[in-house]
Amino acid sequence: MTFPKPELIPLLLLALVTLSFTTMSSAADCAGAGAISVYWGQKSNETEGTLQSLCSSGNYNIVILESLLVYDNGSDPQINLAEHCGNSCSKLQPEIEYCQKNKSIKVFLSIGQARTVLKTKNHRHYSSSNITAAENLASYLLENFLSGNSGPLGSVTLDGIDIADVQDGENLKWDEVVRAINASTTARKIYLSASPECVYPDYYLGTAISTGLFDYIWVEFFYQNPCIYANGDAANLLKEWNKWTTGVPKSKIFLGLVASDEVAGYIPPEDLITKVLPTIKQSSNYGGVMIWDRGYDLSSNYSAQIKDSVPKGCRCVCDDDAWNGFYGLGSASLGMFG
Ligand SMILES: *[C@@H]1O[C@H](CO)[C@@H](O)[C@H](O)[C@H]1NC(C)=O
Ligand SMILES: *[C@@H]1O[C@H](CO)[C@@H](O)[C@H](O)[C@H]1NC(C)=O
Ligand SMILES: *[C@@H]1O[C@H](CO)[C@@H](O)[C@H](O)[C@H]1NC(C)=O
Ligand SMILES: *[C@@H]1O[C@H](CO)[C@@H](O)[C@H](O)[C@H]1NC(C)=O
Ligand SMILES: *[C@@H]1O[C@H](CO)[C@@H](O)[C@H](O)[C@H]1NC(C)=O
Ligand SMILES: *[C@@H]1O[C@H](CO)[C@@H](O)[C@H](O)[C@H]1NC(C)=O
Repeated sequence: MTFPKPELIPLLLLALVTLSFTTMSSAADCAGAGAISVYWGQKSNETEGTLQSLCSSGNYNIVILESLLVYDNGSDPQINLAEHCGNSCSKLQPEIEYCQKNKSIKVFLSIGQARTVLKTKNHRHYSSSNITAAENLASYLLENFLSGNSGPLGSVTLDGIDIADVQDGENLKWDEVVRAINASTTARKIYLSASPECVYPDYYLGTAISTGLFDYIWVEFFYQNPCIYANGDAANLLKEWNKWTTGVPKSKIFLGLVASDEVAGYIPPEDLITKVLPTIKQSSNYGGVMIWDRGYDLSSNYSAQIKDSVPKGCRCVCDDDAWNGFYGLGSASLGMFG
């Protein structure tokens, strides 16, 4: 590297000062994105704690309950939150309401998982009607989880449905499901999210994603994938991130992170803050980060170390109420809690 000519140094200093003023400036930056979502539900009580303790931690804006098992043989879907509630998950209702009402945390239910479902497009379960499997599933979700009627989680009105980690089955069916959920007749918006692996486009969820109906896409930048952070190098990750943010402009894109250094793709907090977040925040549809999962996060203390760096703009000029009020996803998101 060549040392700058002496007469240029004052100019460089001026440029630096200007730059830091611009970076530090204005609370208006606080209107930017930057939420944290987290998966909860598949580990033991001890490993990941209760839903209420998750929501009172102050570290997250969205919790995704994992998961609802959906079958393709006509049986009703089944809620599976491991040992948190066994066969009596309606006892979670007060905790879900605590998250939503006391903490303004959105609660989503994850369907999907590598186990599923709905093998054929427009598969019809019931010979007596012409309702498709996708429509049937959508009305089941509305009836049981999205409209305050009594269901497997009590009388809850969840905020959204998440389609996660689909690694088998056909790639055609999920667009039908997403359209059917979106077509549900309800006064409230039903948020839709998806969790594809990081290679763009995703084979299984690609058609669903291209409907443009997903509000949030948490892209999994972990496990053995060519696009993960590896050996201190973020180049592949950033390249793939750009494909997602430009390829799916209507959705908020989240960086899906694993909170355990035992899993491939783990990004140490300080690397995330210095080498990754500054770049990905420049995307206009940057939404924040997704943490996989609460159990890992509890033992690594990951989200606590990164949360101040996740919002766009400078945390130090933001007031805490703004963070608590979940400004991250835009004013449209706030209306529903009113
Ligand atoms: C459908 O599949 C699930 C999971 O394998 C099973 O538990 C259930 O009994 C099946 N239902 C019918 C009607 O075969
Ligand atoms: C886990 O905690 C819930 C209450 O939060 C309790 O009902 C359940 O029995 C616990 N499970 C085990 C295996 O201890
Ligand atoms: C949640 O909010 C309600 C209403 O403000 C309050 O009565 C209740 O004590 C709160 N719950 C907890 C656990 O803080
Ligand atoms: C289902 O659709 C087919 C073809 O559109 C129609 O012939 C049939 O009558 C319909 N069945 C019912 C029960 O609506
Ligand atoms: C369906 O999607 C449209 C466009 O994003 C949205 O305005 C509408 O609220 C959605 N419907 C539901 C039930 O969420
Ligand atoms: C977790 O990280 C936060 C932020 O760095 C720190 O204040 C806190 O003490 C940590 N907690 C534990 C248990 O290490």
